[in-house]
Amino acid sequence: MRFGHFDDQRKEYVITTPKTPYPWLNYLGNEQFFGLVSHQGGGYCFYRDARLRRLTRYRYNNVPTDSGGRYFYLNDGGDTWTPTFMPMKKELDFYECRHGLGYTQITGSRGGLRAEVLFFVPLGHTAEVHRVKLKNESGAKKSLKLFSFLEFCLWNAHDDATNFQRNFSTGEVEVEGSTIYHKTEYRERRDHYAFYHVNAPVSGFDTDRESFIGLYNGFGDPDVPCEGKSKNTVASGWSPIASHGLEVDLEPGEEKTFVFVLGYVENPREEKWERPGVINKRRARDLIGRFERTEQVSAALADLAAHWERLLSNYSIESKDEKLNRMVNIWNPYQCMVTFNMSRSASLFESGIGRGMGFRDSNQDLLGFVHLVPERARERIIDIASTQFADGSAYHQYQPLTKRGNNDVGSGFNDDPLWLILGVAAYIKETGDYGILSELVPFDNDPKNVATLFDHLKRSFDHVSNNLGPHGLPLIGRADWNDCLNLNCFSETPDESFQTTGNRTGRTAESVFIAGMFVHIGPEYAKIAEYRGLSDEAARARGEIEKMEKAVLEHGWDGEWFLRAYDFFGNKVGSKSCKEGESQILIEPQGYCVMAGIGVRTGEALKALDSVKERLDTRYGIVLNNPPYREYHVELGEISSYPPGYKENAGIFCHNNPWVMIAETVVGRGERAFEYYKKIAPAYLEDISEIHRTEPYVYSQMIAGKDAARHGEAKNSWLTGTAAWNFVAISQHLLGVRPEWDGLCVQPCIGKDVPEFTITRKCRGATYRIHVRSSGGKGVAKLTVDGQPITGHVVPYARAGSVVEIECEAS
Ligand code: BGC
Repeated sequence: MRFGHFDDQRKEYVITTPKTPYPWLNYLGNEQFFGLVSHQGGGYCFYRDARLRRLTRYRYNNVPTDSGGRYFYLNDGGDTWTPTFMPMKKELDFYECRHGLGYTQITGSRGGLRAEVLFFVPLGHTAEVHRVKLKNESGAKKSLKLFSFLEFCLWNAHDDATNFQRNFSTGEVEVEGSTIYHKTEYRERRDHYAFYHVNAPVSGFDTDRESFIGLYNGFGDPDVPCEGKSKNTVASGWSPIASHGLEVDLEPGEEKTFVFVLGYVENPREEKWERPGVINKRRARDLIGRFERTEQVSAALADLAAHWERLLSNYSIESKDEKLNRMVNIWNPYQCMVTFNMSRSASLFESGIGRGMGFRDSNQDLLGFVHLVPERARERIIDIASTQFADGSAYHQYQPLTKRGNNDVGSGFNDDPLWLILGVAAYIKETGDYGILSELVPFDNDPKNVATLFDHLKRSFDHVSNNLGPHGLPLIGRADWNDCLNLNCFSETPDESFQTTGNRTGRTAESVFIAGMFVHIGPEYAKIAEYRGLSDEAARARGEIEKMEKAVLEHGWDGEWFLRAYDFFGNKVGSKSCKEGESQILIEPQGYCVMAGIGVRTGEALKALDSVKERLDTRYGIVLNNPPYREYHVELGEISSYPPGYKENAGIFCHNNPWVMIAETVVGRGERAFEYYKKIAPAYLEDISEIHRTEPYVYSQMIAGKDAARHGEAKNSWLTGTAAWNFVAISQHLLGVRPEWDGLCVQPCIGKDVPEFTITRKCRGATYRIHVRSSGGKGVAKLTVDGQPITGHVVPYARAGSVVEIECEAS
């Protein structure tokens, strides 16, 4: 069942009923200021860091699910309602939500009044613009009241949600004309404030929540809108809000537009005050002045659209499969941008309080983002590398505001260092900017301890080869990519974190997955070393990689598939010898080892992928492991803590499905790769939205597996490495166009379903138009570049500014 439709022309998903199976979200913002907005107007916003600079409050995991937002209440002759449906839930004659690239427009009408609310963050500004259009579609004159509403968060979202004994006494505001200023804690150490403004005279305002809503009411029946009159309250402690009261007269057919600006301002310490106790509003007034008139708003919207048009033109496809086109051209890169911006911090499944930027996560997010804005990827690489420790290991995450490692989720995840090499390699291949390798980058943000980025990569590489276990395979540490495979944790105590607890210390538990990564990513390091003229170092690295490949085939092969790991006691994890109720096969090493090319010549690769098909594939995607763990295993940790079929215990973890897709292209089975692709790509799931439940335009981290009661139901939409890896799989491996060290590689492998397509790829300033005709097999039969046949499948990089025409006949 569908709850809307794609509008590809406008690059929007159009939701036609407020009653979707779950709140369907969109993100606003580009670099500094971000917002989340649901199809019912729920959500919140923050400056840079969802935890430390939260502007508005949201009630996570609440009843109803999506509670708190920027709401607009209408009182039309005593009939009070909200055009976003929530929170008042009054029946609407018309409802529509258009989630677009960086904006959301929600329209509701009732009783002959149409209200359209548009939310977006203009490029280059630390503010949200809310444009409200009211149109009288009845035959009679209307005199109505409009009330804006939002609730301020007291900046630190964690403290805001817990420290009431202090916070109920600190709230402060100022009101000046049509602008409400939120200045809690500005009197002491904060140099920032927020404001909410409307470009029209107000008839009243409110800044005290209890007065506006009524102590025993909710967002759905607030006093002020229902009574139709603002109370002009000035908050003193408790919960500061911002509400403007506007009186609006509309002749039949008449439309009026109001522009609200919710802004964030920082002042230099010495310019904090206008006069004692009164904040300096100069910067706020400047910002307000940018969006005073509706034409300014339209221009900012047009800029945003042009910005996205430009970004998306870096990789686009024309094919007969419209779902494929909309994933590749619009929604998948859009989600990659959002994951790049947010990492795993703020969504309907991540509170914005718990997690900052992941070391592993952000490196992987880069892979799907780097072709959009390489300069930002560069900056991100330096930020990430600056949190690395001198021995090559890493904090698992860092806070975006301070850019410092954050020990909440600890360190010692032994896959982390390798992802940095992969991220840097992707960046250099995209840009040709080898200069980044010479950048001086600190360890653990200590300016006294710096080294070149290349040296950071060397330490990443060596961290693996310096930490091998009894079988010559990498030690797993706290966990590898699978955060829940905790082989040194041994937790018997509730409330201990699986990620930070290590009740045993030993150098025995090994990961075949990290070994696969090492063989896949290690050669990138060798190539980089070679580029720097360090041929001995490159040869040494290749020697290590070769040894690792041997170790995998010798100790990591189980006969029909790759083993997953050796546990603390040296027992096999993910082997046919595992007991009933234990997993015998796990997906990660199958995908990753084959991607690395292990066993391709000798047959293990094909066998492993056939085992995936036989044992892990389902109608909704490939599960992570099978059979699921039926009991808690103290020696395996969190993986066995989930009920069968969910999350890392036999859920369909969409992040690692593309590894199998890519692996299928490595062995030349494009058809199967595309079949896997379509099983989890959201646009193909639109018709089963009642089962899938999350947004049909973005990937979710997990779909419940075949052992779960709710097989096919997705969770954790938006912030997942799934976005980047699926983009890599489809764009670089199935459609087959990817930047390599010496040129653009064209090597499609997608099967018979997509027999002909054209890719436009911009890279290093040149534009490549690649027309592919494919009979469904693997291997490029013929590649013609500007009419000249070439051998192989790498087209040398062209001069910036040139347009290169490529014809590809794939057998
Ligand atoms: C984390 C990833 C991890 C994955 C699998 C996600 O929640 O963000 O870093 O690889 O889970 O455990």
